[in-house]
Amino acid sequence: MQQSKLQNEMDNKIGILYSTVDGQTLKISNELKDVLTQNGNTVEIYSIDDFDKEINSFDKFIIGSSIRYGKHNSKIIEFIKTHKDQFEKTKTAFFSVNLVARKSEKNTPETNPYFIKFIKEIDWKPYKAAVFAGKIDYKIYSFWDKLMIRLIMWMTKGPTNPDAEIEYTDWGKVKDFGLLIDNM
Ligand SMILES: Cc1cc2nc3c(=O)[nH]c(=O)nc-3n(C[C@H](O)[C@H](O)[C@H](O)COP(=O)(O)O)c2cc1C
Repeated sequence: MQQSKLQNEMDNKIGILYSTVDGQTLKISNELKDVLTQNGNTVEIYSIDDFDKEINSFDKFIIGSSIRYGKHNSKIIEFIKTHKDQFEKTKTAFFSVNLVARKSEKNTPETNPYFIKFIKEIDWKPYKAAVFAGKIDYKIYSFWDKLMIRLIMWMTKGPTNPDAEIEYTDWGKVKDFGLLIDNM
């Protein structure tokens, strides 16, 4: 735990709301939870499918979603639109998980095309934001998904080996984001 933190700053209640299809956004959420818990916070994680709490029951709120075929989960977008006003009171962070972010020139909120488009469309500025590279695991994809992702990877000079399982997530960057949220 950081020695410089004041006692009353230590015990924040933090909510993490995630949308995942193959588990990578949940894995990142769990890493954020570990970092924040180690720093003295109480952290609760919820799937977008079963969140039933009030946002203002949390001191800080984190929302994470992966990209599928160019879009974040529509339920996450709807959730943000509906709760935008409450985010003024509860400091909120957002992170996006996608494969374009495996490229270093497209892995920040300022340079990732999905993040830029998303923020523009939704007209919302999270207090803190991050973009993380996700994971490819061709073996678990359906026939069409595998075909499509391999095609996209071929076009963008990524891996096309049908057995490829590659985790691009930079865990150091995830940890740093956790520390940023701890201090926000
Ligand atoms: C069907 C499918 C569609 C995807 N579409 C995109 C996409 O349009 N752009 C992109 O950068 N990544 C895309 N991805 C990559 C995912 O964002 C990446 O695998 C991420 O780790 C998934 O996170 P999740 O397991 O939390 O859903 C796609 C993956 C799948 C399986």
